[in-house]
Amino acid sequence: HRRSVVVGCGAYLPETVVTNTDLAERGIETSDEWIVQRTGIRQRHIARPDETTSVLGTRAARAALDEAGLSPADIDLVICATSTPDHTFPSTATQIQAALGIEGGFAFDLQAVCAGFVYAVATADRFLATGGAKRALVIGAETFSRLLDWEDRTTCVLFGDGAGAIVLEARDGEGTNADRGVLASCLRSDGRHRAKLYVDGGPGSTGTTGKLRMEGREVFRFAVGSVTDVIEEAFRASGTTADDLAWFVPHQANRRIIEASADKLGIAREKVVLTVDRHGNTSAASIPLALDAARRDGRIREGDLVMIEAIGGGFTWGAALLRW
Ligand code: ACO
Repeated sequence: HRRSVVVGCGAYLPETVVTNTDLAERGIETSDEWIVQRTGIRQRHIARPDETTSVLGTRAARAALDEAGLSPADIDLVICATSTPDHTFPSTATQIQAALGIEGGFAFDLQAVCAGFVYAVATADRFLATGGAKRALVIGAETFSRLLDWEDRTTCVLFGDGAGAIVLEARDGEGTNADRGVLASCLRSDGRHRAKLYVDGGPGSTGTTGKLRMEGREVFRFAVGSVTDVIEEAFRASGTTADDLAWFVPHQANRRIIEASADKLGIAREKVVLTVDRHGNTSAASIPLALDAARRDGRIREGDLVMIEAIGGGFTWGAALLRW
């Protein structure tokens, strides 16, 4: 049967870096010590006004195509996971499709907040497995800086902007690389948790974009307490265990959430890829940004078993297991 194999990976971060100390110097009542101790975040990248989500996503997509040795015309599916689209419509994915010069196939946005990239990988995998597409660009791109209430120190210090992308290619599960590809994915949501993490605007409410609101402690508790179910299910579905993992690449929200989850699952700390210190929480972009970092510094190699996992507003959550 057909497998969705990762053939390229890329990322893009805005040039402007804002450190914790920069935030404190700009008048936010916080400190490097507080932010590092509670979250592990030391800095984040912030987009300029002209660097919209589609601009960041297009750059990440180009980098992924370059690594794959493919041209835009080889792509027949573009999925962009984002909660910060350039416009309400058309989708950011179609803007990226046009910017890349892709005229065929189909493109759409996928909105599952911080879990968006995992949802997008699972979705692309289904299209590739059933013959609905041959090569997919799966992008996570966000400009959360535009949703932040810069007067609210409990949220504004946590997030950053950026984009990452992978190219998935449908391959017959035969030959020497037969075990490569997306081995399992598991998605969940529970809309009863809406009030714990949401944006207080939108076309159906205030008519403005709105700002991010969060009950940090509630999110923390759920992230550590409940999210491991999808990871355990992905292990079960693929007949693998934590010992088989080469790398655990979770959504990068908070160092404490990540380490507590890894400990609970019996995943050794040295297998955990951490970028939250440099990127902050970039929502749907955080996993492909972390994949790209671990790929480029030589950690993730062909044949490695990699678990990705995320939780976001809704709540939405999910995990996917890939053999790189
Ligand atoms: N700088 C300094 N002090 C601060 C800041 C800040 N930026 N923010 C809050 N404080 C203060 C609070 O006002 C409070 O002061 P008080 O005791 O005088 O009232 C004190 O620090 C402790 O605040 P808490 O909210 O209890 O701090 P907590 O230890 O819970 O840490 C945090 C807050 C980091 C948000 C934590 O709850 C957390 O990590 N939650 C997870 C949220 C998350 O990662 N969300 C990401 C989006 S969702 C996702 O991606 C999964």
